[in-house]
Amino acid sequence: MHESTRDSIARLLAPALGLPESEVTELVELPRERGRGDYALPCFPLARRLRKPPQAIAAELAESLAPAVAADPLVARLEASGPYLNIHLDPATFARRVLARVAQAGERFGESERGAGQRVVIDFSSPNIAKRFHIGHLRSTVIGAALVRIHRALGYEVIGVNHLGDWGTQFGHLISAWELWGEPERLEGEDPIGYLQQLYVRHNKAAKEDPSYADRARAAFRRLEEGDPEARALWSRMREISLAEFDRIYRLLGVEFDEIAGESFYEDKMAHALALCEQRGIARESEGALIIDFAEHGVEGLQPMLLRRSDGATLYATRDLAAGIYRFETYDPAKIIYVIGAPQRLHLQQLFAALGLLGFPAERCHHVAFGHVLGMSTREGTAILLDEVLGRAIELAEQRIREGDVRVPEDRIEETARAVGVGAVVFADLRHRPIKDIAFDWDRLVRFEGETGPYLQYTHARLRAILDRVAEEHGERPGETEADPGRLVTDEERAVLMHLEQYPRAIERAARELEPSVVSAHLLDLAAAFSTFYHKHHVKNAPPELRRARLELVEAVRRVLAHGLGLLGIEALERM
Ligand code: ARG
Repeated sequence: MHESTRDSIARLLAPALGLPESEVTELVELPRERGRGDYALPCFPLARRLRKPPQAIAAELAESLAPAVAADPLVARLEASGPYLNIHLDPATFARRVLARVAQAGERFGESERGAGQRVVIDFSSPNIAKRFHIGHLRSTVIGAALVRIHRALGYEVIGVNHLGDWGTQFGHLISAWELWGEPERLEGEDPIGYLQQLYVRHNKAAKEDPSYADRARAAFRRLEEGDPEARALWSRMREISLAEFDRIYRLLGVEFDEIAGESFYEDKMAHALALCEQRGIARESEGALIIDFAEHGVEGLQPMLLRRSDGATLYATRDLAAGIYRFETYDPAKIIYVIGAPQRLHLQQLFAALGLLGFPAERCHHVAFGHVLGMSTREGTAILLDEVLGRAIELAEQRIREGDVRVPEDRIEETARAVGVGAVVFADLRHRPIKDIAFDWDRLVRFEGETGPYLQYTHARLRAILDRVAEEHGERPGETEADPGRLVTDEERAVLMHLEQYPRAIERAARELEPSVVSAHLLDLAAAFSTFYHKHHVKNAPPELRRARLELVEAVRRVLAHGLGLLGIEALERM
């Protein structure tokens, strides 16, 4: 594998600094302003260690390394500028190296084995059965699936878990409601989940007015817990119906899970969790209930966590505690990532604190909290039908395609519209940090220009078209001609190369910060740099040697776009 520019620079600088190369690699950064070289080494972080002012460090490095630089093909010149050491590269060598790296890695440029041997559990999507998929579940699905792919690209062993909401006292209400009012044929109808949700709401309301319904619900849930065949069969049926419905969405988004271990999976594991709490003396009775009072164990500022109600019922939190313990004990993961809306922050703080008190490495647990989707309420409240989002985006995409925003042959319109509509929604979600609320601006969402998913899909298709045209006219294909990327030395080309070079780091940063938006931002920057280049320079009509070199550049950009879109869960379209 060719080494990265950063590593080459670190190898040159490290001996003079007396530091390990790996440490120097992390110090090297992109310059703050244009015209200050291609990379820079800020010397402040070194001042204390080397007991010298940063200005002096920069000046001495520039001087003492001059002979090494003269012999180095990549670094053309070092220049001290105040506390910075500016690093100027030889543009031709830089271009050759970058494109050689991309060519060598093939379609997998950007991936690595950094995470090899480490497991990551990602808890995402996790809708509730017998209830509609919520817009929040869409966000969790999209963000979680991106984090799964990003970690896999870095060699982590990822276990993507759908922590389905399929257990709890609410199923007592549902079972009782079914027994009282259930109409079997409605489960075969249009919207079985909507029907179940109605039944639940009706029973729940009745229980508020008449305690006998509440008793029925409790008794029904007890039967379910005790394994009563009828209650179980009914519950299974509801679960299957719900999963089939959720699967439509997962298929549309191209999302899969390694485990569908919902809350019911932990039914027989809660006893172990509660026993562990007792053993460590972290839980105690309070008015008949079982709680963890964090203040008693030196954890300040957290409300007590309820593990068992006075009527003996366990809770969502009890199952999450059992799940956390199970995950640590089964997988010994390097990270457990919970992709859950920001309103559940307190719940997760309690969960992580409880796991910590039990002696598990709770610092490995992360809550990727996401914000709301604004302006999306319907008569169902914020629980909008998913079809209203993805379906609407797909419709809009088809409309724009038919209006001629892009050209797609009639027989491919439907499939293209699906990819564009889904891509638009997914990108809008991953464009910004998860914690920010998002507003789906329907007018701008599905556009082939601006900072949208469809714009990137369109750019990818355009790059493909450039390659096709050169192949038709000149019979040249990337990787198959004698091309010297050393010719790619204009500012615009160097800017594109810089973005290519930085792509693997963007993936690493996205994983480290649990921010898929690092990848989306990088792709937008790359597309913008390419567009600036393409505006100013020819590819197909350039002189032959330059054309061949540029062909390699176009292909490298195309590969990175395709790969990055893939990480986000967006189809890179071949033609538009
Ligand atoms: N089912 C829950 C909800 O819809 C989300 C579960 C998230 N995962 C977890 N381990 N708590 O709010």
